Amino acid sequence: MVIVSAKGLVKKYDSLCAVDGIDFEIGRGECFGFLGPNGAGKTTAMRIIHCYMPPTSGEVKVFGMDVTRNPGEIKARLGVMPQDNNLDPDLTVFENLIVYARYFDIMKKDSTPLAWELLDFVELREKARVKIDQLSGGMKHRLLLARSLINSPELLILDEPTTGLDPHSRHAVWGKLNYLKSKNTTLILTTHYMEEAENLCDRVAIMDSGKIVTVDSPSGLMSMHGGRLEDVYLKLTGRSLEG
Ligand SMILES: Nc1ncnc2c1ncn2[C@@H]1O[C@H](COP(=O)(O)OP(=O)(O)OP(=O)(O)O)[C@@H](O)[C@H]1O
Ligand SMILES: [Mg+2]
Repeated sequence: MVIVSAKGLVKKYDSLCAVDGIDFEIGRGECFGFLGPNGAGKTTAMRIIHCYMPPTSGEVKVFGMDVTRNPGEIKARLGVMPQDNNLDPDLTVFENLIVYARYFDIMKKDSTPLAWELLDFVELREKARVKIDQLSGGMKHRLLLARSLINSPELLILDEPTTGLDPHSRHAVWGKLNYLKSKNTTLILTTHYMEEAENLCDRVAIMDSGKIVTVDSPSGLMSMHGGRLEDVYLKLTGRSLEG
């Protein structure tokens, strides 16, 4: 079953074409990754999927509904972990979850046990009563992940979920995401870590300058082009690690 589909998706910021006519389909339970250099258009594509902003042209459907016509219904069923930390610094860790739950009309009597459950899931229970600025960068990441799960989303959108994390924390997040996958949550993520894409993604779209260069499984790309996923990525985006 198709959960997300895009046909001829274009997003322009004034004269800059950030997403330049892309097509893709993502199935239920799949983990789909957008890879590509800075400015390729990954975050822009993700933002359109989670109804943060409309496309300039093209058709994007999530759960079979058009993102421009049914944004409210779509947003109720998905979770978002943004690239930048947008936690409320005036609230504690726990309060951040409770306030976020209100956007989904989750009553306090339900959100309280849920918040504890999610804090346990991301191993932050002992930080429940501290303010956001007292968390380490990795802890803020984990809290953003917990917050994105507050409405038990069928589709989870993760923009660079492990950027800046130490290897141990990164592996811990992979463990959590693989667990969600095993529960049939559909995942869409962006990453600059090829190991992450290999570990989590069933298929990846390699983007460059607003276009999708190729879509395939990491293993399919590696057997077609030879070498590791990193070599394939560099070859297809025409980049090199030197200079
Ligand atoms: N709100 C905005 N207004 C104007 N231009 C924007 C805006 N957001 C992004 N852009 C531009 O659109 C292009 C694509 O940006 P986007 O954030 O989608 O890239 P990205 O692939 O997520 O990159 P990164 O790997 O650095 O996160 C860039 O040229 C960027 O400068
Ligand atoms: Mg981005």
